[in-house]
Amino acid sequence: MEGCDMRNAAKRLVAPGKGILAIDDNADVVFPRFAELGIEQTGDMLKNYWSMVTSVEGLSEFVSGVILSEDAIAMDMQHGKSFLQGLAAEGIAAGVGLDQADIALPSSEAEKVAGGLDTLEKRLTAHAAYGVHFAKWCMPVRITEALPTDFGYQVNAIQLARYAAIAQSLGIVPIVEFDIVTEGDHPIERCTEVTGRMLEAIFPALHTQRVDLAAIVLKPNMVTAGRGNAHFRNIEAISRQTVSVLRRFVPADVPGIAFLSGGQSPTESTANLNAINMAGRDAPWPMTFCFGRALQDPAQSAWQGQASRRKDAQRALMHRAKMNSLAQRAIYDPALENQD
Ligand code: 13P
Repeated sequence: MEGCDMRNAAKRLVAPGKGILAIDDNADVVFPRFAELGIEQTGDMLKNYWSMVTSVEGLSEFVSGVILSEDAIAMDMQHGKSFLQGLAAEGIAAGVGLDQADIALPSSEAEKVAGGLDTLEKRLTAHAAYGVHFAKWCMPVRITEALPTDFGYQVNAIQLARYAAIAQSLGIVPIVEFDIVTEGDHPIERCTEVTGRMLEAIFPALHTQRVDLAAIVLKPNMVTAGRGNAHFRNIEAISRQTVSVLRRFVPADVPGIAFLSGGQSPTESTANLNAINMAGRDAPWPMTFCFGRALQDPAQSAWQGQASRRKDAQRALMHRAKMNSLAQRAIYDPALENQD
């Protein structure tokens, strides 16, 4: 894609009422979830699952893009492009998650960065030729009293910016993601501070690497207290702090912000997204969802690995996508949960 096309593609990913479905976990993450639900942990089951979620009729009303794993793309190549064709038939853009297993930061062993930057260009060139239009790279961030360090912020930001520059050089829209994990009992103010420092490091790094900000999607965590803190679920504080830190640090030319769900329950993440959009009605960028677990969990529970439940699972996914679409427009009402 040329620069102008990339800008348009980024805008389409965050179009009004639409968000992104992230199914880019590989088998090592999906299989433990299958095991909890009593689903067989085999390649065939993975194929059935990925085929089911990439062929939901009507999903494009609420979902603009689906992020696949590299394993799913490799499987798709073997089986005649069924996942990509399913998405294309619905008018949904295909994306790919590219970060690999975390590696310890040299000189700061308690911190990690995502691995795989050295092979990124080669992998992404092949994915682009295969029909992938956008990409995702996630940088994991842990909060403790001592972490992140200044060094951690800088190295992670440079790495994210390198990824984004490589993606754009190949005509691929980069989703620039950081995930401040919720483990710990820190107050929400600490997450606000770390989120702000991440953003403060990322944008100069993107600028230095000559990344076109109008052709990215920013994917941050919502700002929350640590999971062990009594205020973890304070929706008013989450929406207020999230909007205020984004307003302070995210330039207006970024076309959109798409949040990860971070282990919040499906309805919690929808309610938080709704509250964020209410608090940020006049924000310069649309704010939407790019959820993994919060969109997939109800579908996986409904499916249970059984062909006879495929339609139920697809309905469950549609329902969550619709609820999140309403939240993107700040018109979600929990009473609607039982109406589909
Ligand atoms: P969650 O919404 O489950 O945090 O995941 C987002 C994501 O990008 C998964 O790869």
